[in-house]
Amino acid sequence: MRTVSVPFGDRGYDVLIDEGLLAQAGALCAARLAPKPEKLLLVADYTVFALYGAAAVDSFRAAGFWVDAVTFPAGEHAKSIATLERILEHAAAAELGGGDCFAALGGGIVGDVTGFAAACHRRGIRFVQIPTTLLAAVDSSVGGKTGVNLAAGKNLAGAFWQPSLVICDPATHQTLFPEEYANGLAETLKHGLLFDAALFASLQRGGRLSVDTIARSIECKRDVVVCDERDTGKRRLLNLGHTLGHAIERASDYAIAHGAAVGMGMVLITRLAQARGWCGAEVLPALLGGLEACGLPTECPFAPGALFAAMAQDKKRAGSDITIVVPERIGQCALRKLPFESLKSMLEDLWNI
Ligand SMILES: NC(=O)c1ccc[n+]([C@@H]2O[C@H](COP(=O)([O-])OP(=O)(O)OC[C@H]3O[C@@H](n4cnc5c(N)ncnc54)[C@H](O)[C@@H]3O)[C@@H](O)[C@H]2O)c1
Ligand SMILES: [Zn+2]
Repeated sequence: MRTVSVPFGDRGYDVLIDEGLLAQAGALCAARLAPKPEKLLLVADYTVFALYGAAAVDSFRAAGFWVDAVTFPAGEHAKSIATLERILEHAAAAELGGGDCFAALGGGIVGDVTGFAAACHRRGIRFVQIPTTLLAAVDSSVGGKTGVNLAAGKNLAGAFWQPSLVICDPATHQTLFPEEYANGLAETLKHGLLFDAALFASLQRGGRLSVDTIARSIECKRDVVVCDERDTGKRRLLNLGHTLGHAIERASDYAIAHGAAVGMGMVLITRLAQARGWCGAEVLPALLGGLEACGLPTECPFAPGALFAAMAQDKKRAGSDITIVVPERIGQCALRKLPFESLKSMLEDLWNI
């Protein structure tokens, strides 16, 4: 078993990673949550509950927890105030006390809404993340960003609320659709391009990630979030490929998956950086090779006009300047603030080459 410690002072926690760990979830929670909660409310979407709910419940009961479960449909539309309310009503009806605990069994959607519910129930109780997607394992389970979507936009309501333990069983990733697995590969490739050339190189081989590679990807995220919990500085590096990636997702009306869009976003920003002389010539071919090995597309199907129309919301929020993340070398990227209009004309230049 690999352990990645996330030092947030007295809110610090461990991420435990190993094949088959789900069966030990109860024992691990009993051993590591002090004081031991009496009750545990398991939260999952229908898909994940059908696959892994029984194993999780059995494991918690065997470790002496009183367990109940709340479930809801899979999909982004369920990351809502309505689901939050449902979880909170369930927790209140089950009389979960201040010393009790939620457990989020699932992908990033379940993790985000469960974490927010944990931050709200009795003004904050503990929660455990049990990520069952690669994306949740290497990205959303660590760092404490929780929340739900509003009609006005994604992730517009939420809280910073750190989990008390993360239990990651990569064996659960075997049942993911390839596209879902690729979403996590895109974030891992991003971590490599940002911080670790060896991690980046290891992804050029393709295939399922080892426990060690998952742990290394989590360490990359850990290292930035522990020094910038509230996302005002270095943590913004994690937006690599995301400003344009979000625009690509929106322009496609979400037909293009997040990981694919982030991959295309990283390619666009790398091309732009190369054209400006900000980035070494070795980065783009390596990025294209890595994306291909991960089964991710490389070319954005939208012209700058469509992308910028899709970025109107970001522009309203960011004002006249935008901070972009620019690759310099493999394993090293920088934040650059520039006028929104400059980014637009730089991208238009790329199209005209
Ligand atoms: N909090 C953060 O820091 C953070 C970071 C990145 C993304 N996110 C959020 O995470 C969400 C995306 O997370 P996601 O990609 O994990 O999506 P998800 O939670 O929707 O899971 C993807 C799909 O896979 C299914 N699934 C999950 N585990 C499975 C398994 N083991 N086998 C088979 N099917 C399984 C789910 O039912 C769902 O249909 C977005 O809402 C995003 O905003 C949050
Ligand atoms: Zn992402």
